[in-house]
Amino acid sequence: MKYKVGICQFEPKLLNVSYNLDKMKELLLNVKADLIVLPELASSGYLFNSKSEVEKVSEFAMDGPTATLFKSLSQHNDTSYVVGFPEKFEKKFYNSAMLVNPDGKIYVYRKTHLFYEEKLRFESGNSGFQIFKAKKDVPVGMMICFDWIFPESARTLALKGAQIIAHPANLVLPWCQQAMITRSLENRIFSITANRVGKESNGAKELHFTGMSQILTTKGEIIRRFDKNEESVYVTEIETNDAQEKKITEFNDIFEDRKTKYYNLN
Ligand code: ACM
Repeated sequence: MKYKVGICQFEPKLLNVSYNLDKMKELLLNVKADLIVLPELASSGYLFNSKSEVEKVSEFAMDGPTATLFKSLSQHNDTSYVVGFPEKFEKKFYNSAMLVNPDGKIYVYRKTHLFYEEKLRFESGNSGFQIFKAKKDVPVGMMICFDWIFPESARTLALKGAQIIAHPANLVLPWCQQAMITRSLENRIFSITANRVGKESNGAKELHFTGMSQILTTKGEIIRRFDKNEESVYVTEIETNDAQEKKITEFNDIFEDRKTKYYNLN
């Protein structure tokens, strides 16, 4: 199926939810697609110094300000979105992403592999890697930022049937964009990494984010990679059937050829 997918890269402002939501609305209001991916913690910024800061900007997944904006954008543009936000659930906080569909349904993924001081602010995600149907019933898997360094994340999503990996990110290390080429190639799936740009300071701490959001084909080809600083949205058309072709040669199918009895993954 021909499918229009996009990335949205911008610079969220720490603890300024209304600015961040307005900025995403401004960038997305006139862009139609089937699926657009936005950064990790896009509604809140990233560099929290305490749990009380997280608490101030955390939201319930189904009816918080991020859900409200994206339900309305999704209906208005007939587009599915994946966007990162700090989730509040039973007095706990998760670094989560939601898939919002034009029919108003919302599905949530909670980041499994927390990076650095995220471990002091959030619970490890307990949603596991699941597949959800985005617009036109295309199977999409979500993972967030540092999940990339564990090949099991993308592999699990691919084995469960994802055709596209939606990958919100706030990247500070230099390796992910290149590594995702291998994640796409070894699983024969499309991947959409939506990173943020700019820097954040909080007290004595400062982080620089690397931009270069990208959309990759099932062969790891770069359809588009943004530069390190631009705030922008880009949409392209892919053929989702490509992700169902797991054969590399007439004799090699990357899923059927797996020798699981030799893999000790525990
Ligand atoms: C990261 O996982 N935000 C680096």
